[in-house]
Amino acid sequence: MKRKTPNLIRAARLLLPALLLLTACASDAPKYKIGVSQCSEDIWRDWQNSEMKMEANFHEGVELHFTAALDNSQRQIEQIDSMVAAGIDLLIVAPNQLSSVTPAIDRAYDKGIPVIVFERKTDSQKYTAFMSADNYEMGRLMGEYIVSRLGGRGRVIEIEGLKDSSPAQERHRGFTDALSKAPGIEIAASLTGDWTEEQAYAEMMAYKGNVADISLVFGHNDRSAIGARKALIERGVKPLPLFCGIDGLPGKSGGIQLVRDSLLDASYIYPTRGDQLLQLALDILNGRPYDKETLLSSAIVTHDNAEVLQLESDEVMRKAQRLERLNQQATLYLEQLSAQRTITLLVLILLALLMVLMGLFYVYHRNKVSAQRERMVSNLWNMEAPEEPKAEQEAPAEQPAGTPAPEADEQPAAKAEAEKPENEPLFIIHFKDIVEARLSDSDLTVDELAASMNLSRVQLYRKVKAFTGSSPNELLRTARLNRGYQLLISTDKTISEVAYAVGFSAPSYFTKCFKDEFGVSPSDL
Ligand code: FRU
Repeated sequence: MKRKTPNLIRAARLLLPALLLLTACASDAPKYKIGVSQCSEDIWRDWQNSEMKMEANFHEGVELHFTAALDNSQRQIEQIDSMVAAGIDLLIVAPNQLSSVTPAIDRAYDKGIPVIVFERKTDSQKYTAFMSADNYEMGRLMGEYIVSRLGGRGRVIEIEGLKDSSPAQERHRGFTDALSKAPGIEIAASLTGDWTEEQAYAEMMAYKGNVADISLVFGHNDRSAIGARKALIERGVKPLPLFCGIDGLPGKSGGIQLVRDSLLDASYIYPTRGDQLLQLALDILNGRPYDKETLLSSAIVTHDNAEVLQLESDEVMRKAQRLERLNQQATLYLEQLSAQRTITLLVLILLALLMVLMGLFYVYHRNKVSAQRERMVSNLWNMEAPEEPKAEQEAPAEQPAGTPAPEADEQPAAKAEAEKPENEPLFIIHFKDIVEARLSDSDLTVDELAASMNLSRVQLYRKVKAFTGSSPNELLRTARLNRGYQLLISTDKTISEVAYAVGFSAPSYFTKCFKDEFGVSPSDL
């Protein structure tokens, strides 16, 4: 018989691939982990980080890890080492100082992690790419602007950036080179700042020289210029000198607005370009061609262009905000989708578990039934005679033995004769052989069975009943069903073929008796 695949297994075959597919889709493992090591935390860095985050939204599987060393080189070394240990695929780093952070950057590079140094330099060649605006050029151009703004005459104070950081060194060189060409301008002092407003304020408060005749203060960044301005106001300097800085950020407290509001006379745009930085990182990671050195273009901000630049930057910010809102909505939608997916996944897992349990139960039940059957068959054929057969029953009227006809309980026809059990095992073996040989004969009667064994119908009934506790008819039917069971599981015969082969004249009745006997339908095997 062609065995039917149970519904359970067919459902599992459909369910499992769906489950695997869903599990694969559910994995949100990032493709690239990018570590961003910022030397400080301030509006310039915030602006740049948000540009990187925004850009990352356009690329699948990018995970950004940000750290900020708060102007502390040792802290930056530890942060880089721990990001490398955490398994980042690429490092973007703005080194706090030229040399102090270099060992950690070199370690990352030596481990095969691509390194992008941006905006501040290291004194090592171990980096994959470098991206920055030209700090020397910005210092020089700002110097030239100041010379012309002051008409070639005046005393200026410079507030430098953090000692040993490359932009501070380069801006200073550019600035002093430009001023060296204007003999009428004197650099009254170069104060040591650290890029913070607080430090510039403190330096300017502590400055012992004459502040009354200072015509201009050049801060290496806008925050330093504003810190110096606050100090001179506090020191009661009137009229205030001019203030120039670098960064020229967009936004409310950015340099462009400060120039527009005349708090600063000029600033220089120090481009953040977080978007371009992330694109460079992805080019490297994806094996696309890239430039080892990228020079970002820049421009001066003065009263003449501050208005236009501010309008433009406002527009850019509005667009960025709209984009951010869109991104938030998309993120929300994706989160909902992922929650639904998780629920579906859980339901499918539960269903799969249930099916596995049902499958196990099914197999267990089938094994149990067949073990029972095997036990019954072996008990039947190996059965010893009872010690003292006492029952005296009447043999039933003659009818086809073990046939599908509804079977009335066989009643003994006469009292049991005193049959002696000396030939009992042989008798059973003999009886078994005859039954086995004629199993497929649906017309077989108890009379015929008895005649084959040279016994009367009554004798046969009494003897069989005495040895087995069952009538010959019952034993014959059990033997037919057992043989049917074995044929079904071990051959390709159909149910009808099997029914006829074991002496049933109606397959439907075979199915019914089979179910009564084994608790399962032949079609479930
Ligand atoms: C931001 C910043 C800027 C400055 C730059 C120099 O952290 O301090 O204000 O232009 O770093 O590296």
